Amino acid sequence: MNTKKVTLVTGAASGIGRATALKLAERGDQLVCTDFASAQLQEMKDLTGGICIAADVTNESEVDALIATTIAEYGRLDGVVHCAGIEESFVDAREMTLEVFEKTMRVNVTGSFLVARAAGRVMVPQASGSIVLMGSILSTVGYGGNAAYTASKGAVLQLGRALAVDWSKFGVRINVVGPGPVATPMSQASIDDPVRGAWLRERIPIGRPATTDDIAGVCAFLLSDEASYITGTYLPVDGGWLAL
Ligand SMILES: NC(=O)c1ccc[n+]([C@@H]2O[C@H](COP(=O)([O-])OP(=O)(O)OC[C@H]3O[C@@H](n4cnc5c(N)ncnc54)[C@H](O)[C@@H]3O)[C@@H](O)[C@H]2O)c1
Repeated sequence: MNTKKVTLVTGAASGIGRATALKLAERGDQLVCTDFASAQLQEMKDLTGGICIAADVTNESEVDALIATTIAEYGRLDGVVHCAGIEESFVDAREMTLEVFEKTMRVNVTGSFLVARAAGRVMVPQASGSIVLMGSILSTVGYGGNAAYTASKGAVLQLGRALAVDWSKFGVRINVVGPGPVATPMSQASIDDPVRGAWLRERIPIGRPATTDDIAGVCAFLLSDEASYITGTYLPVDGGWLAL
């Protein structure tokens, strides 16, 4: 019988999701990695010893099939770290297209809902589980030229709280992590930009952007039994950004 914790990581082909999947595999979890189909996703199969399933988190039937395949393969689902997300454009809201706004909400908010709903349908009857949703510091504060992403991350935080209120009594914990800038493909251009990058470093009390491991360790903690009484929480991992 498989005694390892079965953990699903979305957005596992890149950045925070990739680092989190590697950390959890190292911890001994049985990994299920998902992302769009890509060479990087396939590589995760070798690196984690788990299974990799390509899925678009905005596609209801693909998300439901992802969870169904996980249960068919391992019989349970103990943890989810939902990292799939996008940040598409930095423009004043007056210039932002409806397409960009709706796409951002669909991937970041609807995707979080579909993944959490499918996981909850398994975890609630199982009477155990832990789900980590990926918010941002922008779940609680504003940022210039970023209306769609900021709105979406605020919604992810409130989604996490609502799910925690509904499901914690069934033994399913839901928490939202709030990274500040992290060195991943999503933020690398800003971090490397001489002006924006210098401003970011000055803005962060610790003086540097997060590494993906900084975030992965916190996700692993929230999934672990050490966090057994933590639910409905928003945990910033921001080098002090929100303290300023
Ligand atoms: N990098 C940062 O500075 C930062 C800061 C705060 C929050 N976050 C959040 O952390 C999460 C991970 O971001 P990252 O920095 O690792 O970015 P990333 O771009 O490196 O990785 C995101 C992954 O999500 C996948 N993805 C996007 N849309 C998808 C979809 N519809 N279906 C399936 N997979 C999809 C991409 O293919 C990619 O592999 C995101 O939710 C992001 O908003 C990032």
